[in-house]
Amino acid sequence: MLRRALGWRREPSRGRVDGGTAFRRPRGYIRAMTGAELPDPVVRRADPVPAPGSGGLVDRHGRVATDLRVSLTDRCNLRCTYCMPPEGLQWLPKVEQLTDDEVVRLVRIGVEQLGIREVRFTGGEPLLRPGLPGIVAAATALRPRPEVSLTTNAIGLSRMAPALAEAGLDRINVSLDTLDRDRFKQLTHRDRLDDVLAGLAAAQAAGLTPVKVNAVLLHGLNDVDAVPLLEFCVEHGYQLRFIEQMPLDAHHAWTRGRMVTAEDILERLSARFALTPDSEERGSAPAERWLVDGGPATVGVIASVTRSFCGACDRTRLTADGQVRNCLFAREESDLRTPLREGATDQELADRWRIATLGKLPGHGIDDPSFLQPSRPMSAIGG
Ligand code: 5AD
Ligand code: SF4
Repeated sequence: MLRRALGWRREPSRGRVDGGTAFRRPRGYIRAMTGAELPDPVVRRADPVPAPGSGGLVDRHGRVATDLRVSLTDRCNLRCTYCMPPEGLQWLPKVEQLTDDEVVRLVRIGVEQLGIREVRFTGGEPLLRPGLPGIVAAATALRPRPEVSLTTNAIGLSRMAPALAEAGLDRINVSLDTLDRDRFKQLTHRDRLDDVLAGLAAAQAAGLTPVKVNAVLLHGLNDVDAVPLLEFCVEHGYQLRFIEQMPLDAHHAWTRGRMVTAEDILERLSARFALTPDSEERGSAPAERWLVDGGPATVGVIASVTRSFCGACDRTRLTADGQVRNCLFAREESDLRTPLREGATDQELADRWRIATLGKLPGHGIDDPSFLQPSRPMSAIGG
């Protein structure tokens, strides 16, 4: 079937991946490449989809992916309650993970052949990957030079920030959901708040700016931290963004009713700050931004659930085990690791990536009664 011809497969469950099947150019590949077998697009692009072997990552709704998120590991040294259980998860076996060279090759194909302009390394926790500075240096050496950033929980960053800056890293996003030590412990199951704060300061000192802080709020747990987090970030010159909790937890416990919405967040912040919409063009950036007390400080709210921005999405994702995901919420992924290890050319890998992009759905459909949460949690996909 078409699915198989495109190298698509259902997601592995609970972060496990099967050994992969031998790479053969699948039957129907050429037909799939010419689009003859593809179902009718829901929305037709004004421009024709580029011919196979050329062009960027275009989907059938006219969106072009230029922002690549690369998960470097599914492991993490925290256990944020909205992400993974205290005992952790069944991690990917090492042999299934892309090596540093394999990661760099796929990023190079993305940049040189597929129009990727931004590369963000993520996890799990990417600082756990020993080769991170080398991978960053290789990414920043590519031409055209992509913007290269990192999303991290900042544990170990106070030590690593200078090496990452030296490797050419442009910016950093740190996850921090509370400034209260007890609540930090309760939320992450680890007593590491001081490491995170030291990591933030080190990133700033190393020039990895603007330092952005991502916060997820949970009712009854850390929703009281909204105002203190913004006060702290304004004081230190960090850009704070609140992210609505998405149904990407490993234990599938998310419910819409329990989620702290963008509206809740703005209401809390408005009790302390005067917020005015930032008139700067939002583009494909997911955060709606507000000036804090007239500026120049801003706060962002990423309303991924209640005000989704799928229509402007420009992302494509690569998991630590070499699967392309065209959406955080995709239920299918395309295997690049197997063909890569069996000798596929850059051109063949680029074509597989293009095909994987074509089938990107118009939206995440969280509000649709038929919505099914992806089996891989956020930590295995890469945020
Ligand atoms: N919903 C929203 N954000 C999440 N993150 C992790 N899991 C979720 C979720 N279920 C955040 C992390 C990190 C970023 C990559 O995504 O806190 O800042
Ligand atoms: Fe680790 Fe990020 Fe998940 Fe927290 S949200 S457990 S920091 S991967």
